[in-house]
Amino acid sequence: MNNKILIYKMNESDIEQSAGIWQSCFNDYSSGNESFPSYWTHSSTEIKDFLIQKVKDGCAIAAEADGKIIGYLAYDAFNFNGEESVFCPSIGHAVIDDYADKAYPLLYQAAAKDWVSRNIFNHMWTINYNDTRLKKTLYDLGFGSYLIDAFARTDAKLDAASSYQIRKASANDAEILYSLVEESREYYASSPLFLKRDSYSIDDISQILTNGNVFIAFDNTIQVGFINLSVSQESNCIDLSVKNCGMIDEIGAYIKPEHRGNNLGKDLLKNVFNYCASNNIELIHVDFETANLFANKFWKKYFSPVLLSVRRTINKNIND
Ligand SMILES: CC(C)(COP(=O)(O)OP(=O)(O)OC[C@H]1O[C@@H](n2cnc3c(N)ncnc32)[C@H](O)[C@@H]1OP(=O)(O)O)[C@@H](O)C(=O)NCCC(=O)NCCS
Repeated sequence: MNNKILIYKMNESDIEQSAGIWQSCFNDYSSGNESFPSYWTHSSTEIKDFLIQKVKDGCAIAAEADGKIIGYLAYDAFNFNGEESVFCPSIGHAVIDDYADKAYPLLYQAAAKDWVSRNIFNHMWTINYNDTRLKKTLYDLGFGSYLIDAFARTDAKLDAASSYQIRKASANDAEILYSLVEESREYYASSPLFLKRDSYSIDDISQILTNGNVFIAFDNTIQVGFINLSVSQESNCIDLSVKNCGMIDEIGAYIKPEHRGNNLGKDLLKNVFNYCASNNIELIHVDFETANLFANKFWKKYFSPVLLSVRRTINKNIND
């Protein structure tokens, strides 16, 4: 190993080896944890399709050393919350272990030079949650935590007994679910989360009730919380969910402030686990912002974090 690393624009001929490097890294970080979606350890179709597109778009670079490709970085550019941004998903990068310390900063340096020259100041990456070495490299470069993707097996036993009444919602519950979802938007927008969520109409809520599985909790006759579970129809190489995976997505889960901490969240989750177990759904996915003080504690009790997304904001006056 002579340590000389060369960064260049990725070619189509690099894709096969790049996908192999990614899979080998994912195997290392997922081994021994049954909550990780094992599908990604043997299927490389999606990652190759992703890389083919990125090479075509000119959004992929590779690193070479000792006469071989040792890593790569590929990304999407889009508008995120009103700001031009780049996003490098988990399948958008990998480096052979021995070269990781040196190659990752060089890959980022080359990519960031290009991004900032195009006034793209919001940089986001998703990494394997267990890759503490890359996490440190990125934190030293100015990145910080943003989002976690986590998975749970639905055969896990949840011992939850709350004093609330929980039932699966029907189309008739649109009005009461709507009021809870509206209230949850205020929670997401509040400090320190500051997350702007789209508003839903009553029709949107009716649609969610028809397509998803919403469980609503009542304190006698008053609605106090809900959880929503949908079932994925295909695998998604960005969040690593697989076909027929339970997804706590869209309106997610919400409990009124005065009813939090009474085991209701766990009880709602137990209903979701039971539903999945009796419908042959083995895994559930959830994602949550690390700045969500409740979610960041709650989900980690029952789910294994698989991916960590980090974010860096560049000084906006750099190109002035
Ligand atoms: C996240 C949420 C659904 C959790 O529901 P909850 O009823 O408050 O949680 P529970 O009382 O069932 O707690 C279950 C476990 O999580 C732990 N937990 C929950 N919130 C916690 C917190 N803020 N800090 C530390 N632990 C917490 C509890 O101690 C409990 O652990 P235990 O069984 O070992 O005692 C609820 O707090 C909520 O609606 N928050 C606001 C909206 C939100 O963040 N939704 C999730 C979006 S991704």
